[in-house]
Amino acid sequence: MEVVRKIDDLKALRPSWPRPVGLVPTMGYLHDGHLSLVRRARTENAAVVVSIFVNPTQFGPSEDLSSYPRNLDRDLEFLEREGADVVFVPPASEMYPGGYPTWVDVEGVTSLLEGASRPGHFRGVATVCNKLFNIVAAERAYFGQKDAQQVAVIAKMVHDLNMNLDIVVIPTVRETDGLAMSSRNAYLGSEERVAAGVLYRALTSARGMCREGCLDAALVRKRMADVIRTESLASLDYAAVVAPGSFEELESLDGQALAVIAVRIGATRLIDNMTLLD
Ligand code: PAF
Repeated sequence: MEVVRKIDDLKALRPSWPRPVGLVPTMGYLHDGHLSLVRRARTENAAVVVSIFVNPTQFGPSEDLSSYPRNLDRDLEFLEREGADVVFVPPASEMYPGGYPTWVDVEGVTSLLEGASRPGHFRGVATVCNKLFNIVAAERAYFGQKDAQQVAVIAKMVHDLNMNLDIVVIPTVRETDGLAMSSRNAYLGSEERVAAGVLYRALTSARGMCREGCLDAALVRKRMADVIRTESLASLDYAAVVAPGSFEELESLDGQALAVIAVRIGATRLIDNMTLLD
């Protein structure tokens, strides 16, 4: 496994790779959710490239960029074990040299929910993914369903900018109580960790309602908010029922529908989602 820090060095390696190539973009502090992406990429591609880059442009000024968990040595051990071929670990100055001026803005879907709560977040995500796609030139890129709105933004960018790669979306990997795996779970104290199970309970309760025949999105939203309120350490940022591609809120559930929530457990903000009608 090669560890590469410079864009030019990565590009120089490209001709030696067997095709197809799968890219797994990450911000590191890898858990089983990330590793499920790497495993899937391994089965579908002749070469697997993983990027580890805590992308500063997707963090707001009051967000957790400096405290975002990092453990490169452990990440590299995991990736070696999973059979990654190349790990790209650029410093921020390599990706965004001084005065960096060029951005990718995907309109519409980025102004809703996560986009409204975290202004500028999706511009940073779309920009860094576009750069990584150009640098690695993979045939496929792998993302987790846990960040469903991020997937919608990236899929739209790839479609609208006629990019030559497939986006592969992998189901959310969960802990035994249903909590979606996330690097930010590391922030949770032991009581908070127990409380965080409330996100999954809210989503499964919403899905249960729909399976019993409720098609009223307002009632489903209220159910999620009610379940979150049962947990004293939790405070709801949003609970919504949306169309999976556009993230526009639905009134009635007669087609594909996704329940999405963002909840603060103490100081830690967690997101999750679940398909309501399979
Ligand atoms: O999901 C993430 O870890 C990040 O948003 C991504 C896609 C690696 C871009 O920085």
